[in-house]
Amino acid sequence: MSENRTIRIGLLGFGVVGQGVWKNIEVNRSTLKKRLGVDLTITDVVVKNLERERAIQVPPEMLSSDPARVVDNSEVDIVCELMGGTTEALHFTRRALEQGKIVVTANKALICEHGEELFNIAQASGGHYLYEASVAGGIPIIKMIREGFIANRFRLIFGILNGTSNYILTRMEREGLSFEETLGDARSLGYVEADEALDLDGIDAAHKAIILAYLAHGKWVKLDSIICEGIRSITGDDITTAGALGYKIKLLAVIDRDFEANELSVRLHPAFISKSEVIAGVDEVYNGVSVSGDVVGTAVLIGKGAGQDATASSVISDLADAVAILQGANKLNTQEQKNCADQKRTECLELTSIDAHSGCYYLRVHVKDEEGVLSKVSDLLAKQHISLATVNQKQLKDGTALIMLTTRLSNERAITSAKSSLSSQGAVLSEPVSFRIFDPS
Ligand code: HSE
Repeated sequence: MSENRTIRIGLLGFGVVGQGVWKNIEVNRSTLKKRLGVDLTITDVVVKNLERERAIQVPPEMLSSDPARVVDNSEVDIVCELMGGTTEALHFTRRALEQGKIVVTANKALICEHGEELFNIAQASGGHYLYEASVAGGIPIIKMIREGFIANRFRLIFGILNGTSNYILTRMEREGLSFEETLGDARSLGYVEADEALDLDGIDAAHKAIILAYLAHGKWVKLDSIICEGIRSITGDDITTAGALGYKIKLLAVIDRDFEANELSVRLHPAFISKSEVIAGVDEVYNGVSVSGDVVGTAVLIGKGAGQDATASSVISDLADAVAILQGANKLNTQEQKNCADQKRTECLELTSIDAHSGCYYLRVHVKDEEGVLSKVSDLLAKQHISLATVNQKQLKDGTALIMLTTRLSNERAITSAKSSLSSQGAVLSEPVSFRIFDPS
């Protein structure tokens, strides 16, 4: 390819990330040209609403509302899908890949729900589907796992993959604010997704965990087959108790592989994590991913997990890979994840069932502040063979009390049964809440 070649990029979607890509290609145009040997030029921008005012003014001849103008245009070298959603985006990604095109995306929901099909289309047609910006914003975790850590088998990958919920938990912890108060601020700062459940119920982070699990282990996991719990039930009392016991509460994605049993556990839930873990110190809108490989040991990557520039950084990194593909490099066979060299073992890889998880737990029980209640609670737990590690009690102004316990090694079945028997006690005033205590060892 000639050094003077211009690489033509068509953007589907021109929201926060699309404008970030435009802006940062402009800002670093000459540096990118030196590094890539070609000129990156956005030639077409497709938007839903042509009339909307945007921070970046696109020349009218480049703007359209017709995705076909990008997808079916033989002059466009790279299709950049930043429209989001899983309907139109699926249709046009399919159509572009079927034509053997290179598609760059930040669309984690689309990959999570339809990645298997889309990677297969790309493989069959000679197209490429690049997705660095779909997980952990500006952290190049996809490239790290795919290339930097290629020598490794991954026993454990865990971390914080949702910036909005991390921001909320950080402010609750630092300022003693309630979930609702902090959520209000997160909304006004524009952090929370339009569909708030994606951030608050853990779905967004679960999508990202599923993508990492595929990348590291070659197995597509369905969202409804994993533990996926968000942050809505966390209170200031939980955070304070965790802190007093040496923990922070973080919304953790955990991808845990047992090579001997050939099982994979993928889960997303709030967890107590020791303050001594690097990931526990990842606060505000930052993301952090800890990768443990059999060759490298443990490496931790931390960076902005969301936001215009951080996400644009990852999109542009994929655009650079797309340039390498257009220049004939074949090292980027991203459809066939080379990490899954042991294909037979990947095919037989079983997903650990949701209720097979074992570990220590934290349990909060709201009770009438009466004599004998604590011993009733501990008797019920003993019936489930749950042994207690710590007990804290807080008296509330309304004459009720919170009993906050941590357990020794237990399991999902025992904790679920214990919560259900506790709920049926007259002295227990609301459904008990539990969180897992995460131990990476
Ligand atoms: N809602 C996401 C987050 C945006 O807060 O992390 C980045 O994927």
